[in-house]
Order: sequence, then C-alpha cells, then structure tokens
Amino acid sequence: PTPRPHDRLGRPLRDLRISVTDRCNFRCSYCMPKEIFGPGYRFLPQPELLSFEEITRAARAFVALGVEKIRLTGGEPLMRRELHQLVAQLAALRTPEGRPLDLTLTTNGALLARQAQALRDAGLQRLTVSLDALDDALFRRMNDVDFPVDLVLEGIASAQALGFAPIKINMVVQRGVNDHEVLRLAEHFRGSGMVLRFIEFMDVGCSNGWRMDQVVPSRELQQLVHARWPLRALDPCQPGETAERWAYEDGAGEIGFISSVTQAFCGDCNRARLSTDGRVFHCLFAHQGHDLRHLLRDGASDDAVLQGVIAAYWQRRADRYSQLRGEGVSGLPRVEMHFIGG
Ligand code: GTP
Ligand code: 5AD
Ligand code: SF4
Ligand code: SF4
Repeated sequence: PTPRPHDRLGRPLRDLRISVTDRCNFRCSYCMPKEIFGPGYRFLPQPELLSFEEITRAARAFVALGVEKIRLTGGEPLMRRELHQLVAQLAALRTPEGRPLDLTLTTNGALLARQAQALRDAGLQRLTVSLDALDDALFRRMNDVDFPVDLVLEGIASAQALGFAPIKINMVVQRGVNDHEVLRLAEHFRGSGMVLRFIEFMDVGCSNGWRMDQVVPSRELQQLVHARWPLRALDPCQPGETAERWAYEDGAGEIGFISSVTQAFCGDCNRARLSTDGRVFHCLFAHQGHDLRHLLRDGASDDAVLQGVIAAYWQRRADRYSQLRGEGVSGLPRVEMHFIGG
C-alpha cells in the first residue's frame, strides 16, 4: 500500500473538497456580490473545467493517500450538468482497506427538489444545505436573486423523504444582517432529525468586505440557544472536525457551532481542496494552488506519478491561516470562495 503523507505540522490528509463549478445561481453578497459577479463576469470556459473522469482519477489518487471523505462543492454544485454521474463514479471508489468513502455535497438547495432522486440513486448518502434565513424577504435579499425560501425548504423536504441522513443545515451568521434569525432556525430544525450549524462569518476571499464586528462569536450563540433550550456538550466524532457539537437536553437532537474566527481549528486540519480547474489548495485561505490538470491531461503520467506529486505537495504544507489571522496576515491576496467552495 502507498505510504500516507503527513504535512510539516504532522497532519494527515483525510478530507478532499472538490469544486465542480465556479458558477452559482445565487449572488450572496458575502460570496459573489453582484457588483463583481455581474453579467460581464467571465466564468471558466468549459475546456478549463476538469471532466468527471479527470476528477475521479484525481480523487482515486487522493484516496490512495488517505482521503476518506469527499465533499462536492462549487459555486453551486447542482449547476454542473449531470452531476449525478460524477457522484456515481465517486461512490464506486474504495479506500485501501476496502471501505466506501464518506461522500457528501454542499448545496444552496435551489435545485435540490429536482435532483435529489438522481443523486440518491447515484449513491449519495448525506448532504448539507446552506440556509442563512427563514424569513422570506430577508432570504431573498441575502441570495440577491429574489429566490424564495420555500423552494429551498421543499428541496430539503424531498431530500429528507428520500432518506438522506444526516442532513446538515449551515447558517452563516452576520451581525446586524441575520443574527435575529438564529433562534427561529434553531426552533425550526429542533427535533427534525437534521443538524443545524451556525458558522462564524469569515474573511474568505477578497470581495466580501469582511469586518470583525460582523462576526457573532459562537460562544454568544451557544449561550443564546442554551438559555432557551438547555444544551449538553457532545464529544467530537473525528479529529480535525469543524463543528463543536451539542445536544438538546430534551432529546430534540443535535446542533453545532463552527468557530473558525474565535477558535481556529487549524491544529488538526486534514482538508485539501481541488478547484474547478484542477488546482490543489491546502487552505481555504491559500493564495496559490498546485496545478494537477496538466498531469491529469498528460497521458504520460500514470497514477503512481500523480500520487507522488500530491503526496509531495502535502508534505510541504504548513498552512494555518485561521490561527495566524490577527497576526497581520489578513491583508494578503487569496483565492475566492466561489472558486473552491466553503
Ligand atoms: P461535515 O463532515 O458534514 O461535518 O462537514 P464539514 O463541517 O467538514 O464541512 P462543511 O462544508 O459543512 O463546513 C461548514 C463550514 O465550515 C464551511 O462552509 C466553512 O465556512 C467552514 N469550514 C469548513 N472547512 C474549513 C476549513 O478547513 N477552514 C476554515 N477556516 N473553515 C472551514
Ligand atoms: N464565512 C463563512 N462561511 C462562508 N460560506 C461562504 N462564505 C463564507 C464566509 N465568508 C459558506 C456558505 C456555505 C459554504 C459553501 O460556505 O454559507 O455554507
Ligand atoms: Fe452561491 Fe453559496 Fe456563494 Fe451563496 S454562498 S453565492 S449560494 S456559492
Ligand atoms: Fe485548515 Fe486553513 Fe481552515 Fe486552518 S484556515 S482549518 S489550515 S483550511
């Protein structure tokens, strides 16, 4: 078997997040503001995108090196045509020990009602839906394309009816924008079998005009929810997990807090990201990626070469941006979120 690489901080490679498109049908102001991503914006032309075969080949190399979990992201992954075919190819991969992968997807839910069945049939087990508000007017304003929240809730309901589990709901909380919706979302998803997670608003990319005073610390949200419905801390499931997990004392299920600003979790970060155009990024806040596409397209390089290159890159990794934030590195250029997913 292939040796498993560790990076310069001793972290293994466990999690691969694959962006399948740089397009999105929403224009959330913190991610793809209309002023930048307007009608004149040039998205990647088709030939620049990795094909499903190229993605699967790259994924197979990552799996040989220790990856056990793959998340499809975007942009909005359901905008990629025939995405279920890629899901089927990835669902067929096995770890060196012969186990299937933990395969999942992050979506804004707009196209979910239409695609849930095909994704399920292709072998997708679980998924995560981003949902920043339940108030329809606010939701329409936040996605900035006037998309109604009911259609997202319908998508979530169809996924639940098809047996996707667990379904996670991610809410990015911005002070003064949607923080007044926190208890409403908690109430809505309590007892539903779904896991709601609140995410601290991060300074990703360079176009979202981030300011520290827009961040609502998880601690504050945890106290807010706890005062209404008492919570009990749960043990982490896996090392390097993003979310701190809590259970409702009354048995209404689980809720999570993702605190990458106030409590960075770089220490055991095992996540690599593959961009739509085939570059590997070792941090959500990385400036540059390593191009794999030329290797994937060059018939001369076999799987062993590909694995060797990915392993060598990983062994050079020392990223820990969230820990360094505040030490003055936040002004550096970095990749845009819509390009590598969350
Ligand atoms: P599960 O296995 O379903 O728990 O997934 P996950 O929490 O690893 O992934 P998800 O995409 O749901 O992550 C939720 C949010 O956490 C993302 O939208 C990001 O805002 C944030 N996040 C995920 N990974 C990282 C990371 O490596 N670094 C930082 N700083 N934030 C991250
Ligand atoms: N801070 C935190 N999370 C973000 N996401 C997008 N931009 C940010 C940000 N600035 C999240 C989305 C979605 C995932 C793709 O990334 O809400 O859940
Ligand atoms: Fe699209 Fe998600 Fe970015 Fe919103 S946060 S613009 S839904 S990719
Ligand atoms: Fe990993 Fe970078 Fe996020 Fe830290 S900031 S947890 S190193 S992706």
